[in-house]
Amino acid sequence: MARRVKDKDGLVCLLTEKINEEFLRGAPKLRITANVAVGYDNIDVDACTKRGVLATNTPGVLDETTADFAWTLLMAVARRLGEGEALARSGSWKGWNLDQLCGADVWGKTLGIVGFGRIGRAVARRGLGFQMKVIYTDAVRAPEDAEKAVNAEFCDMNTLLAGSDFVSLHVPLLAETRGLFDAPKFYRLKRPNVVLAPHLASASIETRTKMAVMAAENVAALFKGQMPKNMLNPAVLRKS
Ligand code: GLV
Repeated sequence: MARRVKDKDGLVCLLTEKINEEFLRGAPKLRITANVAVGYDNIDVDACTKRGVLATNTPGVLDETTADFAWTLLMAVARRLGEGEALARSGSWKGWNLDQLCGADVWGKTLGIVGFGRIGRAVARRGLGFQMKVIYTDAVRAPEDAEKAVNAEFCDMNTLLAGSDFVSLHVPLLAETRGLFDAPKFYRLKRPNVVLAPHLASASIETRTKMAVMAAENVAALFKGQMPKNMLNPAVLRKS
């Protein structure tokens, strides 16, 4: 990448590419770096701004897909899908047993959402279909209509941790949110079973395609003299 970007004006990049001062020094012609992700912790936005490079991301198009995946995890951990799958694949399942792999009901329980933004609200909306009580916490309380739409009740973090059967975390990575879920918070949850997945919450064909197209459109817009959407450092355009 570092070699190939030397003479490029625009870049569509992935989370695996670190767009930092050193990278930008090797790309003197670069005017835009368009991340194919809503998260952008791979991009040093200040370094981009200093060098007059516009940075963009892809918010919005992945909200519903990411919310689907939060529910995939929630259901998997509640109903012990990982263990059941491993048992079935092992060939050693001997048949039905009354207390075998009993998990927890999801329907009718209390769902705690930490971070009630676009994705958090989409997760909460799905909770309605499971007749769940939804509580949430956020740095700022949401407008009443957003709360009403999913019957969500605002509370503080301590109340949320004490009162939730399931906690779903949907905050952006910021200085204030890094390490938000530390060991003491995990200890306050009900018995912490775990299901593991790599970074694939937005990984549906439809959504990854939308993200890639959106990033490409941001680059094309800039060179057509239009305003790209989703600018992380719009001050760069005001300067030029
Ligand atoms: C997408 O997968 C993202 O992390 O923004």
